[in-house]
Amino acid sequence: MDKLIIRGGVSLRGEVEVSGAKNAALPAMAACLLTDAPISLQRVPRLGDVRTIVALLSYLGVKAEVTQEALTLCAAGVGQFEAPYRLVKTMRASVLVLGPLVARFGRARVSLPGGCAIGPRPINLHLAGLEKMGAEISLDGGYVEAKASRLKGARIAFDVQTVTGTENLMMAASLADGVTVLENAACEPEVTDLAVLLNRMGARIEGAGTSTITVEGVESLQGALHEVIPDRVETGTFMVAAAITGGDVTITGCLPRHLEAVSNKLHEAGIGVEEGDRSLRVWADGPVRGVNVRTHPYPGFATDMQAQVMALMVTAEGTSVITETVFDSRFMHVNELLRMGANIRVVGNAAFVQGVPRLLGAPVMATDLRASASLILAGLAASGVTTVSRVYHLDRGYEALDEKLLGLGANIERVAE
Ligand code: EPZ
Repeated sequence: MDKLIIRGGVSLRGEVEVSGAKNAALPAMAACLLTDAPISLQRVPRLGDVRTIVALLSYLGVKAEVTQEALTLCAAGVGQFEAPYRLVKTMRASVLVLGPLVARFGRARVSLPGGCAIGPRPINLHLAGLEKMGAEISLDGGYVEAKASRLKGARIAFDVQTVTGTENLMMAASLADGVTVLENAACEPEVTDLAVLLNRMGARIEGAGTSTITVEGVESLQGALHEVIPDRVETGTFMVAAAITGGDVTITGCLPRHLEAVSNKLHEAGIGVEEGDRSLRVWADGPVRGVNVRTHPYPGFATDMQAQVMALMVTAEGTSVITETVFDSRFMHVNELLRMGANIRVVGNAAFVQGVPRLLGAPVMATDLRASASLILAGLAASGVTTVSRVYHLDRGYEALDEKLLGLGANIERVAE
C-alpha cells in the first residue's frame, strides 16, 4: 500500500488539466452490455474503479481494448451473467451491470454491494424499478437474481433521487417493450452524459438532466463513439487546493457550468473564481471566510465535494456548519482532521467547524475516496509534514492526483508503505 508524504505551506500556482469523469465512465462502460457492437469511449480516466469494472466486464465475456485514443468494449461474446462478490464488494458501481444484463440477456445475478465507509448503500430502488418493468427479483446468498423474458415499459417514481439507480433503469428501459417514465430521476451531469451515449447507440431518451426522463424502448442498440465529460469532482478538488494554499490555479478541460454550486460557495467564502469556456481560474483573494454548506443532489452542492470544502473551512475565519443530507455517515474525514488540530464538532448529520489559524502536519489515514482528498488538501495547507496512508482509496477515484499537484508546485511524494 502506498502513502503520500506532504510538506505543507506551498501556495499552488499554474495550470492543470482534469481527466474524464469517473462517474460518467463507469455507467458508459456498463452500457456496452446493451449491444453486440463495439462502443469506443474517449477520455476514460486511468484509475482504480475503471480497472475494476473492466475486470468485471471481462469476467462476463466482454472484449476490452485500450489504445491511447480510446477504450473499446465489445459484448458480443458475453456468456456469463454473474457479477461476483469479490469484484462487487470493492466497488458498489458494479451494480450498473444489472440493468443492462437483464435488458439484453433476460437474466443477471449480482452480488449485493453491502455497505461502505460512507454508509449503507442499498439498491432497493434499482430492484423495485426492474420489478415494475416485469423482472422477477429474488435474493439468494447475498446475491440478487433478476430474470425477465423481456422488460416492459413502466412508470417508475423514485422516492429518493439515486444516480446509479436512474442510470441502471435508463439503460434497462432502452431495450424494454414500450415507454418508461422515470420520475424524481437524478439530474447529475453524468446521467445526462449516459443518455447522450445511449441515444448515439440508437436509444430514444428524452428529459435526461431533468427529474422526468422518458425512454421509448427499441429492439436493439448499435455501437457508438463517445467522449465522457470532464470530472467535476476532480475540478472542484483543484479549486479547493488553490483556495486552501492561498494560490492561483487555472483548471483546464473542465465544464464550469457543472461547478456552479461550488463556485458560488467559494466566492461567498472570499475566494476569487473566474469562469472560462472550458476552464476555471481560482485564486486566494484575501482571508477565507467560514460559510455554511448543505449537500444536495445536483445542481445543489455535491456530496462528493463535502469533505474537500470541510478541509477549507477548517482554516477559514469564523465558523461554518456543514450538513450532509445525502449519505448517513460521510464524516469519516473529521477524526483525521482533528488529529491535525482542526476544531470540528459533529452533531447528527451536521459538522460545526470553528476555523483555526493553522493546521499541524500529522500521520493520517484515508478511509474513503473523498476523505483521502480532504486529508491531502489539509496537508497542503498544514505546517510541517503530513503522511496520508492507505491512498488506494484515493487511487480508486482520481487519476494521478499527486502528480498533478506536483505540477502545481506542491511538495508531495508517493512512497510504498
Ligand atoms: C453516485 O453513487 C456516485 N457514484 C457517488 O459518488 C455519489 O456520492 C452519489 O451518486 C451521490 O451523488 C457513482 O456515480 C458511481 P445514490 P450512488 O444512489 O448512485 C440512497 C464518489 O465519491 N439510495 O445517488 O450509489 C443512498 O443510500 C462516489 O465518486 C437508496 O436508499 O448514490 C443515498 O442515501 C461516492 N436506495 C442516496 O440514495 C437505492 O436503491 C443517494 O445515493 C439507491 C440509493
